[in-house]
Amino acid sequence: MAHTIGLGAGKNSTGASTGSSTRYTIGSAPGRLPLLGHALPLRRRPLEFLSELPARGDLVTVHFGRLPAYLVCHPELVRQVLRDPQTFDKGGPVFDKARLLIGDGLVTCGRTEHRRQRRLVQPAFHPVRVGTYAQAVVAETDRATADWQPGVPLDVGVRMHTLTARVTARTLFSTDIDEPTMDELAHNLPVVLAGLHQRMVAPTGFPGRLPTPGNRRFQRALARLNELIDTMIENHRRDPTDRGDLLSALLAARDEESGEGLTGHQIHDQVMTMLSAGTETTANALAWTLHLVGTHPEAEVRLHAELDRVLGGSPPRVEDLPALAYARRTLTESLRLRSPVWLLTRVTTVDTELGGRRLRAGSTVAFSPYALHHDPTLFADPEVFDPDRWLPERLEEVPRGAMLPFGGGARKCVGDSFALTEATLALARISTRWRLHPQPGRAVRAQPGMTLGTGPLPMLPERR
Ligand code: HEM
Repeated sequence: MAHTIGLGAGKNSTGASTGSSTRYTIGSAPGRLPLLGHALPLRRRPLEFLSELPARGDLVTVHFGRLPAYLVCHPELVRQVLRDPQTFDKGGPVFDKARLLIGDGLVTCGRTEHRRQRRLVQPAFHPVRVGTYAQAVVAETDRATADWQPGVPLDVGVRMHTLTARVTARTLFSTDIDEPTMDELAHNLPVVLAGLHQRMVAPTGFPGRLPTPGNRRFQRALARLNELIDTMIENHRRDPTDRGDLLSALLAARDEESGEGLTGHQIHDQVMTMLSAGTETTANALAWTLHLVGTHPEAEVRLHAELDRVLGGSPPRVEDLPALAYARRTLTESLRLRSPVWLLTRVTTVDTELGGRRLRAGSTVAFSPYALHHDPTLFADPEVFDPDRWLPERLEEVPRGAMLPFGGGARKCVGDSFALTEATLALARISTRWRLHPQPGRAVRAQPGMTLGTGPLPMLPERR
């Protein structure tokens, strides 16, 4: 790629486009097939395919079947998209399907609803409130590891999914949720999330309506989850004292302008949204981090030394978090290398221009945090796991807008600090007591689904 100006980003742009002081390159993805477009590589090896595209241009046309979509590969252009939610809105068939299944909560709602919903939901994630969830995280982590046996392999991916499902449920519903309900929730949620992804990416809704065992299982799990959520909301409404949990905050929320709160239906959708958006993402972040620590002995030694020095074997508290700097850098690097959210899309609401290219209203614009995080023009040696990239003195090496595990702009993850608090505490608690070794002979491959899964992740625990 030839050079011109780069707007503070570590990427050089040139050529084909005009209309602003920066000139961006426009490209198209290779290997387009008639009718199928790029459906095959997108399905078979999406991460590799997407990661090859920044070398093709700053804005690259990809064909999802016959329809073109525009993959934004330059961080500055991604910023433009994220900072203009009026023009680049959530929408399109994937979101329509998601709304039908999990409702119109904060993740799926369009721009007209978003500002109001965000104002109402944001207080539930106030740092003071997030701080109070720490005890639940540690207690649930201890519960999740209680049956670990030295030398007996366990699937860390599955374990982390159960852990984060229980943590999210605990922080949503506090002590109101009894053990049988918790077990049911932790059992049904993964079934719903897996089915949701299949249905969102299916070209038509038809196969999802066939009475197959898989579809019936999904419908049963979804119906049960909806019932459980309604019961929890009903219990909270009957006794509306603030239990300090997320649901209390959602029930108490009032719009500053209108004084109105969320309706029962909207609260249901928000709870479903938190369960869907907060569980699998954080579980995968933790699973990948444990895998990366287990396969990088030097990082493991440094992490353990920090935990021993700061915690001395005690359970971590929120006040300890600033001192757990290496643990935090380890997590951040894991979020870069194995970004749980690997592809995001928007739809243009009006005719517009991006990077010098005209886009019609209704165009699909996508960007991949995974591809950005693996772009060698943005991160030196992008495949290397190096937590020290995130040392304060090295932060300026990271181009603005290149690190986007939580997205950005008005639609940035509302649970980002919650997730980082939860993941750091869980990582600290697990690694204080256990060393996890990869099981020899088992290759681990990223599995891009709704989020970036680990697939089976057997590891051998050893007591520290
Ligand atoms: C490591 C864990 C997490 C990651 C990597 C992550 C990532 C993201 C990303 C990339 C977005 C932006 C989506 C877009 O722009 O289209 C997002 C949005 C969102 N996330 Fe997270 N998330 C995580 C944890 C959580 C947790 C724990 C919760 C709640 C309990 C949560 C709730 C949400 C919600 C409600 C939104 C929509 C925000 C809005 O549109 O205003 N996330 N998340």
